Amino acid sequence: MYKLSEVPLLSAKQIDERLETLAAEIKPYDFDCVVSVLTGAFTFTADLCRRIATPKMRVAFIRAASYGASTESSGTLKVSGLDKIDIRGKKVLLIDDILDSGRTMFELTKKLADLGAKEFKTCVLLNKESRHEVDMHANFVGFNIENQFVVGYGLDYADDYRTLPDIWTLVEA
Ligand code: IMP
Ligand code: MG
Repeated sequence: MYKLSEVPLLSAKQIDERLETLAAEIKPYDFDCVVSVLTGAFTFTADLCRRIATPKMRVAFIRAASYGASTESSGTLKVSGLDKIDIRGKKVLLIDDILDSGRTMFELTKKLADLGAKEFKTCVLLNKESRHEVDMHANFVGFNIENQFVVGYGLDYADDYRTLPDIWTLVEA
């Protein structure tokens, strides 16, 4: 059994403030299209994109799932929605919630490169550097965090906690 930590790891206010600076870093690249990974990145994507606020930047969603009801990745990545996005010749920003082992981002960047993007960068809200198992580094990172399982602000445990505005550590009950 798990429960939330006593206090949030990152408060809504801290997230808000970091998103302002992150959007300012990203905006000059003038991306044609954002490709966001459902479901975990939905809140981050919405909040970030409205701060980047470029009239012609498009937003597309794909779905990637590797977890099920566990805090450890099952290792097999299911990706859907790639057939519905058109990124050929475009400047693309791939957005995910978190880099853990790095396998999801690594697999997705290979798949998106095959779709012929002209330029390609990656962005994650959270990065667990000590957990990386593959050579994958995001171009834009919101926060670097320690090795812990976190929920809220879009991130889930077995589909719970996504709607919480702060980010919490999940601890043993
Ligand atoms: P990776 O493939 O191991 O890098 O895992 C990436 C995916 O696992 C992310 O897109 C998340 O959906 C999920 N994930 C990894 N760590 C956490 C966490 O601490 N909380 C919630 N989801 C996580
Ligand atoms: Mg995810």
